[in-house]
Amino acid sequence: MVAFHFQVLVLALLPLIEASETILGAFIFSRHGDRSTKSYPPTHLTDLGYQQIYQSGGFYRNRYITNGSTQIYGISTDLVKLSQLEVQTAVDDVLQSCATGFLQGLYPPVGATLGSQTLANGTSVEAPFNGYQIVPVNALASAVDNSGDATWLQGASGCVNAVAASNNYFFSSDYKTLSSSTASFYQSILPVINNTFTAATAIYKNAYAIWDLVQVSMIHNATIQSSDLLTPANVLQLETLANHHEFSLAYNASNSLVAIAGSVLASQIVEYLNMTLTTTAPKLSLQLGEYAAFLSFFGLASLPSVSDNFTGIVNFASSMTFELVTNATVTGTAYPPVDQVSVRFLFANGSAADTPLMPYPLFGQSSLELPWTTFMTEMNKISVSGQADWCTACGNTSTGCTSTSTSVVTVTATPGATDSSRDNGISTAVGGVIGAMVTLAVILGIEALVLLLVGLRIVEKRSASPVVVTEPQGGLKA
Ligand SMILES: *[C@@H]1O[C@H](CO)[C@@H](O)[C@H](O)[C@H]1NC(C)=O
Ligand SMILES: *[C@@H]1O[C@H](CO)[C@@H](O)[C@H](O)[C@H]1NC(C)=O
Ligand SMILES: *[C@@H]1O[C@H](CO)[C@@H](O)[C@H](O)[C@H]1NC(C)=O
Ligand SMILES: *[C@@H]1O[C@H](CO)[C@@H](O)[C@H](O)[C@H]1NC(C)=O
Ligand SMILES: *[C@@H]1O[C@H](CO)[C@@H](O)[C@H](O)[C@H]1NC(C)=O
Ligand SMILES: *[C@@H]1O[C@H](CO)[C@@H](O)[C@H](O)[C@H]1NC(C)=O
Ligand SMILES: *[C@@H]1O[C@H](CO)[C@@H](O)[C@H](O)[C@H]1NC(C)=O
Ligand SMILES: *[C@@H]1O[C@H](CO)[C@@H](O)[C@H](O)[C@H]1NC(C)=O
Ligand SMILES: *[C@@H]1O[C@H](CO)[C@@H](O)[C@H](O)[C@H]1NC(C)=O
Ligand SMILES: *[C@@H]1O[C@H](CO)[C@@H](O)[C@H](O)[C@H]1NC(C)=O
Repeated sequence: MVAFHFQVLVLALLPLIEASETILGAFIFSRHGDRSTKSYPPTHLTDLGYQQIYQSGGFYRNRYITNGSTQIYGISTDLVKLSQLEVQTAVDDVLQSCATGFLQGLYPPVGATLGSQTLANGTSVEAPFNGYQIVPVNALASAVDNSGDATWLQGASGCVNAVAASNNYFFSSDYKTLSSSTASFYQSILPVINNTFTAATAIYKNAYAIWDLVQVSMIHNATIQSSDLLTPANVLQLETLANHHEFSLAYNASNSLVAIAGSVLASQIVEYLNMTLTTTAPKLSLQLGEYAAFLSFFGLASLPSVSDNFTGIVNFASSMTFELVTNATVTGTAYPPVDQVSVRFLFANGSAADTPLMPYPLFGQSSLELPWTTFMTEMNKISVSGQADWCTACGNTSTGCTSTSTSVVTVTATPGATDSSRDNGISTAVGGVIGAMVTLAVILGIEALVLLLVGLRIVEKRSASPVVVTEPQGGLKA
């Protein structure tokens, strides 16, 4: 009976809602574009990577900024309003360059007409580069800073307990088994990588560094030595082993501390989307980060249960976005009540200009859109939400923590225990939200009946997958 009502609800609401959905804001998390190999530091962004991230910015411009059905409500289309944007990244040459590159695509030069101002004496002054607009990129603090939130924003860096928890992997039977079963494979690949690796270091322990060197060389070096060894099977083997190695270090279902980078990211996503809903600013948040944060977040958000793909290292310039959507009519400057707002998650495995941006369900739920309260509850379960929480989880010897303000948490194998030590008052929050969801379900049930009675005349054809976005292939795939 209940199931029937929900089907009726969906059938009755779809046409109506499809026509009137509004995106209120979004949070984009992007990996950097193609870069030089980590084997020869310092790494730098390549022209290919610059193009990938710039094109991705252009894709999101089409989706969120320019006039259209997926435009963020009230966002400025040509001249950037800095109050509407929040851009962050760690202090890192590649990531900071990519933030700027992305923004060049998001808000390109506006030309002479819009990009000039008239001075008091009547002279018109044009901005450089055909009206290029400068958007400041905020650095996630890395220095020790006792005055406020700082270190914890960097996720895993400096988190003593998380590093230890992650390194547990090197003592696992999985690691030991793979190390010995792949030993001869890695030795056989040595001639390709012997500029950097030796017989002693060509081992599974360096799975990512080896894969990174091979992958980057295949993209940039037309004369890789012994390239006859790089058969499709061997390349796939190197990639698969690197994926397994990195996912094991980024996420462990038995110990959520391993995924601290994803936890910190989750808290930032909630923080900024909450600000968008509460104050209507920023409307669009952008953060540039590393693949490890993607993998940690994927694990925490149960995405591997949707597809094994989510245990693989994401391609260069990949992005995921969290959209605040509503079916309510939006007018003026106020946003609708939060019970009418949902969150949709989408991911593009590579520059969004080259690869489809696809929606996926989070937290093992069946729906591609989660009510805001459900989303917030689930995100809070996996979040670390401030310096104090971070120090509690990471241990008081971690960077930026004082020994008085924190207590040491023993890393345990039970996720429940770790969760409760990291999330203040979560159990009560869960209770409250379950109550709220029951109420919501009742309200929606009634609404379905009303709509069944009055809404059936609004019938409109609706495509099967409304939020799949594809762009023509741009030929820039890494
Ligand atoms: C909007 O409509 C869609 C499609 O029917 C539905 O899945 C979604 O839950 C609705 N969102 C809200 C916030 O009511
Ligand atoms: C956006 O497009 C709609 C319909 O195409 C139009 O009515 C509206 O005036 C446009 N808004 C702007 C700011 O161009
Ligand atoms: C107007 O002011 C600008 C900036 O002070 C100056 O460069 C320019 O020469 C002035 N133009 C005239 C016509 O005085
Ligand atoms: C996951 O964590 C548990 C508990 O710390 C540990 O025993 C196990 O070896 C870890 N597994 C992997 C694959 O790292
Ligand atoms: C690496 O291997 C290739 C192919 O076997 C060989 O020609 C080359 O001398 C080796 N280089 C080093 C530094 O060992
Ligand atoms: C390409 O690979 C060869 C052989 O490993 C190496 O000597 C050369 O330095 C590489 N070139 C670049 C641009 O990395
Ligand atoms: C945003 O967070 C604050 C503080 O946690 C909370 O009181 C408020 O209800 C949240 N706003 C929304 C829209 O969820
Ligand atoms: C997983 O990746 C494969 C190969 O790229 C693709 O065909 C498949 O659709 C992906 N699955 C999901 C759920 O995205
Ligand atoms: C992204 O692509 C890489 C390389 O093909 C793959 O290993 C990974 O599983 C993909 N991730 C997702 C979520 O599709
Ligand atoms: C953590 O701080 C307490 C004091 O609050 C101190 O006694 C303890 O030694 C510290 N732990 C570590 C591992 O530094």
